Amino acid sequence: MAETTNKTQQLIDRGKRVLIGNYARQPVVMERGEGSYVWDADGKRYLDLFAGFGGGILGHCHPELVAAATQQAGKLWHVGNTFYTEPQIELAERLNRFAFEGQAFFCHSGAEANEAACKLARLRGNQKHPNKWKVISLTHSFHGRTLAMVAATGNPAVRQGFEPDVPGFEQVEAGNFDALAKAVDQNVGAILIEPIQGEGGINFHPEGYIQRVRQLCNERDVLLIFDEVWTGCGRTGKWFGHQHYRDVNGKAIEPDIMTLGKAVGGGLPMGIMFAKPQVAALLGPGKHGSTLGGNGICAAVSRTIFDVIDRDKLTDRAAVMGEQAVARLKNEASIRQKVASVRGRGLFIGIELKDPPEQFMEKALARGLVVNLTAKKIVRVAPPINVDQALWEQGLGEVVQLIASL
Ligand SMILES: Cc1ncc(COP(=O)(O)O)c(C=O)c1O
Repeated sequence: MAETTNKTQQLIDRGKRVLIGNYARQPVVMERGEGSYVWDADGKRYLDLFAGFGGGILGHCHPELVAAATQQAGKLWHVGNTFYTEPQIELAERLNRFAFEGQAFFCHSGAEANEAACKLARLRGNQKHPNKWKVISLTHSFHGRTLAMVAATGNPAVRQGFEPDVPGFEQVEAGNFDALAKAVDQNVGAILIEPIQGEGGINFHPEGYIQRVRQLCNERDVLLIFDEVWTGCGRTGKWFGHQHYRDVNGKAIEPDIMTLGKAVGGGLPMGIMFAKPQVAALLGPGKHGSTLGGNGICAAVSRTIFDVIDRDKLTDRAAVMGEQAVARLKNEASIRQKVASVRGRGLFIGIELKDPPEQFMEKALARGLVVNLTAKKIVRVAPPINVDQALWEQGLGEVVQLIASL
């Protein structure tokens, strides 16, 4: 890493005093961003291949998103959700166009969107059967940090110390359909699944699994909730991760509820629970809410994200670039000894190392590269999906060199 200046060091010292230490922060003060680059307070430039943990789907300070935000900022910020506003309606219309017919509830994060989905599942379940309020999720899953979502998350470390768990959440082994079918008794109201597991390490479900889960939900009158917080908005080469899964007629396997976060705000706080009309109808006046959810600025930016991705055909582009990248990473002789497997779909790529690396972030930042390490040894790359092609190829070369150097 470059030498930190006095100003940077002073900011870090001040930050250590006043910011809670729940994030493993690097000793870098980021100051500005443009496209796929960010600069620190010392003027060092970094290629950001993990823009805002997936939030920066169109990179930093995209001019059309800046224009949407500033235009709306001068018009109407928020008026409270007892009124209609155009940006909210237009955003929900885009979900109808690109996902399926449904209705939207707006909040500020992925965890909140999942909370809303699980509340809705309980509401429905409680109407059907006295105890039909359990939510089943999978091992290695991640659904957020609220009390209920840590109970839903299939990673015991996330729950540790926060016991007792919120009741009504249970995990079954990812990929094991028989275990899931066995767990779905009459007390289960919903199954909550990421179409591709993100924090768990870019994990795919076995062939045919999602189709069987959909069928199981239909047979046992259980809601299927897809947590698309990572996989939504074109990240995986389709608008939404569930669109990769098809039935025998080629139709996408749709959930009853889809949750969105991260990319759908482009870096602003936006979360969405999007439900099929019949299910959404249960959430009548007073049943759920969020004071600032769907505020004008976030909704206008989110609407524009959909428009830019659609106009620039960025989903197809991400699919092609991702496929080429995975093939290249699999063929790189210089890292073959270190890599256990390469997994990816669209611009959502995981490189599983054989051994957990040391000082991974420090080494990446020293090279001017922002990437991520999850589940101890899985290098994750999730650049803005509009990243310049040549820059992306150069960045992949940097990732290869980084891994080779570990
Ligand atoms: C699949 C998934 N769901 C939910 C969340 C929680 O989102 P947020 O941090 O916006 O609450 C995350 C965050 O990483 C996630 O990956």
